[in-house]
Amino acid sequence: MSDAIIELRDVSKHFPIKRGVIIQRQIGAVKAVDGVSLQVQRGETLGIVGETGCGKSTTARLMVRLLDPTAGHVLFEGEDIFKRTGDGLKALHREMQMIFQDPYSSLNPRRRVGTIIAEPFAIHGLFKGEGERKKRVQELMDRVGLNPEHYNRYPHEFSGGQRQRIGVARAIALEPKLLVADEPVSALDVSIQAQVLNLLRGLQREMGLTLIFIAHDLSVVRHMCDRVAVMYLGKVVEVAPSDALYSFPRHPYTGALLSAVPVPRPTGGRRERQLLTGDVPSPANPPRACRFHTRCPKAQEICSQEEPPLESKGADDVAACHFPLTEAEVKLRLPTALSGTAVSTNAHGAGDPAADQSSSSSSSST
Ligand SMILES: Nc1ncnc2c1ncn2[C@@H]1O[C@H](COP(=O)(O)OP(=O)(O)OP(=O)(O)O)[C@@H](O)[C@H]1O
Ligand code: SF4
Ligand SMILES: [Mg+2]
Repeated sequence: MSDAIIELRDVSKHFPIKRGVIIQRQIGAVKAVDGVSLQVQRGETLGIVGETGCGKSTTARLMVRLLDPTAGHVLFEGEDIFKRTGDGLKALHREMQMIFQDPYSSLNPRRRVGTIIAEPFAIHGLFKGEGERKKRVQELMDRVGLNPEHYNRYPHEFSGGQRQRIGVARAIALEPKLLVADEPVSALDVSIQAQVLNLLRGLQREMGLTLIFIAHDLSVVRHMCDRVAVMYLGKVVEVAPSDALYSFPRHPYTGALLSAVPVPRPTGGRRERQLLTGDVPSPANPPRACRFHTRCPKAQEICSQEEPPLESKGADDVAACHFPLTEAEVKLRLPTALSGTAVSTNAHGAGDPAADQSSSSSSSST
């Protein structure tokens, strides 16, 4: 039975394009998100992937109400979040938190780490006593793999991975139900990425969090997520359980993204790489009907005339395509996919969860 914690119903976000110095006129709109419907089940990890500018961050910001939609509804536990005001809105922000891509700019450099992590307590008037607040913050630091004794340090005294851990500690301080992580590891060294991913996975399990994980890199998403939603030019074009998506992608765009992921040791057989050619069209003027038709190797006339609905293509896979990939095509283009070894990942793997501490840029040991 469906237990959606968050649901997007036909949500759009169009940013106006204005021209004029004194009197500004709207001359168009960037359709950053355009009619997206998605359900995220309680406790699941949903990945959102797609090329730059396809609307991932805008979707994330709409989910946690950092942006208001141009159209559509976002329901959190069945209730429209855009109807919340005042204390109701403040309470909502306790339940949903976001981690940002850049751990450098998302932390105030003039504040000590203890104060940064305690920000949510200050906003919500929790743990008012100095000692109590410090104790709680140090517990959080310990939980995310930071040394609690570094409570009084400044962000620049931590490495990139440690800074992202500070962002994670702040995000989980209020024990949210939903955590939206917008490319939380893309700014980090590859060697550190796995440690932060493992931390997020561990927290997700321990806290029963619902996690929305945004990434460019399909190989990262595979090992993090139960399901993956693929976006192209403001639209969701395919949603499927991770294994299904990697073993048998149905949308040609998903196939192209997978085809672009390097396979270190091909298992033999001819592989016809389906590389993405051409630039992504402008979201201010997207191609009509199927937006991928200008780059799709399978495009036919109908693709530029009728928009394909997002519909079931078998089992739990939904895709928006008139001519989804066949098994034979997947075999030819992604020979390792159908055998279940589509891609490797350099970001997944075991390791000392505190390994990134050793790469601290300046100081964590003193
Ligand atoms: N505040 C804004 N004003 C105008 N346009 C915007 C704004 N925010 C985003 N956009 C545009 O909306 C589109 C989608 O942006 P978004 O940041 O959601 O993409 P993304 O998939 O997160 O990209 P990336 O992978 O580069 O982070 C882009 O064309 C972007 O330029
Ligand atoms: S609808 Fe047509 S153009 Fe669009 S992805 Fe499918 S085959 Fe390609
Ligand atoms: Mg983004």
